[in-house]
Amino acid sequence: MLLFHWTSFDITSQLPEDWKEDITAAAAEADFQDFPRTPILSREAADVTHVTRGRVHADQVQQRLPWLYKLYRHHFLELAARAWGEPIEAALDDRYGVVLNVQRGNRMRFECHVDSNPVTGLLFLTDHPAGGGELVVARDPAAIGVEELERDGTAITPRAGQLIFFDGKTHPHYARPLVAEHDARVVAVMNFYTASCPESTRPSELNRHLFGDE
Ligand SMILES: [Fe+2]
Repeated sequence: MLLFHWTSFDITSQLPEDWKEDITAAAAEADFQDFPRTPILSREAADVTHVTRGRVHADQVQQRLPWLYKLYRHHFLELAARAWGEPIEAALDDRYGVVLNVQRGNRMRFECHVDSNPVTGLLFLTDHPAGGGELVVARDPAAIGVEELERDGTAITPRAGQLIFFDGKTHPHYARPLVAEHDARVVAVMNFYTASCPESTRPSELNRHLFGDE
């Protein structure tokens, strides 16, 4: 049986003093859209064409949150290597190394998908006392759509300052909508690579879809 596991670290003490203000300001500039399903990686049900959510793009993260970019490229690599038991690399391509996903209100969620990178780091940046916003990860690599992910999934509750590492390439995952109408969920999403699954394995179709690469 293929089990799902994840490793978490409380990194609150590594964050700068004003991190909450920085995150709030960056999240306010998020690009909110009906994002079309992601080629290759989407695990949405067949009838879902778009999922509405917000994204703070990688270049905005570098400008607005230089401390987060630095943690991604340095300290978090050590933690990822500890979690994985092998050397871990950050992405060389700055267009997708670290971004923020933002859900505002109780109608947004994140797409059911798998990742192209072998190790994913999520740094939760908000708490949700009213509930919702959990990351749901399916044990079954073949699970498709919200219903199947929920049927046999692990729900991980976001806690601000908690950094988790998991294998999102094998296990489909999505983020539930928030419960409260005026709540907002912000998470930093980070791509990490290993020697056996390096950055060069990232599908070029993904970059074409996201960045209009030739
Ligand atoms: Fe993911």
